[in-house]
Amino acid sequence: GRVAVLYGGKSAERAVSLKSGAAVLAALQSAGVDAYGIDADETLAEQLLTARPDRVFIALHGRGGEDGSLQGLLESLQIPYTGSGVMASAVGMDKLRTKQIWQSIGLPTPAYAMLRGAAQCAEIVERLGTPLIIKPVHEGSSIGMAKADSLQQLQDAWESARSYDDEALVEQWIHGAEFTVAILDGKALPPIRLRTPHTFYDYDAKYQADDTQYLCPCGLPAEQEAQLKALSLQAFEAVGCKGWGRVDVMQDEQGRFYLLEVNTVPGMTDHSLVPMAAKATGMDFAALVLAILAGTLS
Ligand code: DAL
Ligand code: MG
Repeated sequence: GRVAVLYGGKSAERAVSLKSGAAVLAALQSAGVDAYGIDADETLAEQLLTARPDRVFIALHGRGGEDGSLQGLLESLQIPYTGSGVMASAVGMDKLRTKQIWQSIGLPTPAYAMLRGAAQCAEIVERLGTPLIIKPVHEGSSIGMAKADSLQQLQDAWESARSYDDEALVEQWIHGAEFTVAILDGKALPPIRLRTPHTFYDYDAKYQADDTQYLCPCGLPAEQEAQLKALSLQAFEAVGCKGWGRVDVMQDEQGRFYLLEVNTVPGMTDHSLVPMAAKATGMDFAALVLAILAGTLS
């Protein structure tokens, strides 16, 4: 049957989604799948009703596409779609509630506070110390994130984060290394270590810079790598995620892992991490896209 690839949308990650969508659509078409693209603008519901695709490949990042609302629409229309369902998509888009779920079952995640107004900043600095990292609760691709080394910097970071979201997550800064673990069909793929000369793995380091290093194999001793994969899979399942996704993790200088977040529609651009991890197992981009699409049938 016909497959609609949904991309674009109006979230802050629209530009990333246009790239993910174009790559996915080209791969499906080159594999002989009868696929077409739909830009998920405000006419999306009408387009779906008119086109009546047999299946949907969701290549939308951020609010409106990755947060459960689209998944709910597709459930109502009884159109099978890739990836996680309504609940896990909604939780995964919310970095704060994701951490609360992990904490509730004893999975490690950096100490944190919820920030909803400048007046809370002083108490947060007192409780968590510095440095801190501030993240809009419902964003992706590091949009609106900043590091704060002082109360003044936290207040400034809040002013900038609040233009994206009405609540921010403040986390203790983890000194150490960043890893990401792709999950596909109930298995963790080889972890990737990210190295950037930037303060953190920000939007520019993700999509533009040529000085970001991606290490796969990630360089961890075998035992720690196995631990990282198992933790990531547990984190994915705790949120109720399905099909495919990616879990981001820090490791501190003592070797302890800390879960940061789960992405239910990870990037599929030519800079992206899930395709890189798949490649390390011998799976090319088209095979990966077909495997994700096959998830709509289960
Ligand atoms: N939010 C971006 C697309 C990612 O996680 O890859
Ligand atoms: Mg994310």
